[in-house]
Formats: sequence, C-alpha cells, structure tokens
Amino acid sequence: MVDLYKDYSGLYDAAFNWNDENQAVAICELTGLNKGRVLEPMCGTGRLLRAFATKGFQTVGIDKSEQMLAIAEEHYLSAGFQGTWIKSNVTDFALENPCNLAVCPLNSLKYLPSSGAMEKHLSTLSCNLYPGSSYFIQLDLSQSAKIEKESWEFEFEGQQVLITWSCTDCTDGFETHLTHFEIPGKKAIEYEKRMKTWSFSEWLDLLNRSSFELSAVYDLNNFSQIVVDESLEHKRLYWQQLTLG
Ligand SMILES: C[S@@+](CC[C@H](N)C(=O)[O-])C[C@H]1O[C@@H](n2cnc3c(N)ncnc32)[C@H](O)[C@@H]1O
Repeated sequence: MVDLYKDYSGLYDAAFNWNDENQAVAICELTGLNKGRVLEPMCGTGRLLRAFATKGFQTVGIDKSEQMLAIAEEHYLSAGFQGTWIKSNVTDFALENPCNLAVCPLNSLKYLPSSGAMEKHLSTLSCNLYPGSSYFIQLDLSQSAKIEKESWEFEFEGQQVLITWSCTDCTDGFETHLTHFEIPGKKAIEYEKRMKTWSFSEWLDLLNRSSFELSAVYDLNNFSQIVVDESLEHKRLYWQQLTLG
C-alpha cells in the first residue's frame, strides 16, 4: 500500500507548494506575536513554517516521516533559514525549550485515530508551549462525505501532474480520503486513508478535558471571526484558535 508521505514526499511537496505568508501575517496579528518560536506538529515539508521563518521566527517542525522532514530542511537550506526538525509521533515528544505558538493546518489532526490519541497530543503540546500560547488548527467538525472532489494541476520534474482529492466514504466516525495523481505516461498513484471525524460537541467535550480552550474561529481567507456553535458542522476549512490555560 502506498504511503504518500514516505514513498511520494516530493510529489506531495510539489502539489501543496503554495505561499502561506498571508496566513502567517494574520496569525501574528491575531496573537500579537512578532518574534519567538513557532511549533508545527505534522509539519510535512514545512510550507507554513517557512512563512514564519520568512518573518524572522525560529521554527520547530515535528513529523513522523523522515522523507517529508528532509524536503523541509532542503527548502530551508536553499532559502538560507535554519530550522529544527524532529522525527516523532505528535502524541509524544519533548522539546528542550517551549514555543510561543503552534499551528497545524489542512485537517492533519484527523490523522490521529482516536480521542485518546488527540488527548495525548494536546497534553504533549501543553508541555511544550508557554502558558497563554495559541494553537491555531484547521480541524473541520463535520462529515465530509458530501464534499465535492477537488482537482488542480502542478508541475513535478518537468511534467504537468493532475491531483484529485475526494472523500469517498463517511461511516462510524471515520471518513476515507482518496488522493489520486495522474502523471503523463505513468501508472496513476493513489493514496487512501481513513481519518477520524469530529462533531462539534465531541470536540468541545475533548477540549474540556484538556488544558486548551476554543477562544475563536476564523475564516480561512480573510480571517474574519466566525460564530462558535453547531453551525461549524456545515463549514469547511477554517482556523480554530485554541488557547493554553
Ligand atoms: C496532510 S500532511 C500535512 C503536512 C503539512 N502540515 C502541510 O500543511 O502541508 C500530514 C502530515 O502529517 C504527518 N503525520 C501523520 N500522522 C502523524 C503523527 N501521528 N505524528 C507525526 N506526524 C504525523 C504525515 O507524515 C504528513 O507529513
């Protein structure tokens, strides 16, 4: 079975290689931070961290894929940045020094397979952030099966590649995500993964058992504030701001 983040890390990097500087600027404005250490659990190839490094922040990326971390490091070297990259599960790590902010975009937290794993992650994070720090996450609280598939083209090793993302099933609290790549003249590559879904009430219950509270929710593009209630279950891709007590 294909492991996208191990076997095709370069392909992922090319497909998701957009500029996140506007996201970093908005998060800095909302938190009032202009320096310090930013942590990204499940950082992948470090696209969002790079935007913080551009603004002068120190960055720490954690991921369980050494292939993804290697590409993140290459990007930093060619931009003249220095970053800390740690190969670890995000449910269990300890940094030498705490961070001032953490971020986790793109619904990556749905990779954590159970409430127990999410509780462990938040507990681990609370030991690696200063009290009062924010954790900005994109974690949809919805059932994604109704989502339209998304496609876009990108360049990889001199060829135009078509990526199509879809959610093919949603049952028993899990949804199946399918990522399909079409590379001219080659067999298509498919990566399928079961991801845990979260309802609004299940998520609030979990946060109540953690050291974080849900302080605010923002639109992905313009960062306008969104009402925090069950209507979030109909929304897709927005930022939640969790604050560490
Ligand atoms: C969808 S990618 C997101 C990467 C990056 N945050 C981005 O925005 O492009 C998900 C990443 O999470 C990592 N990952 C999944 N489960 C993990 C875990 N339990 N601990 C550490 N990394 C994990 C994968 O290796 C992969 O790099």
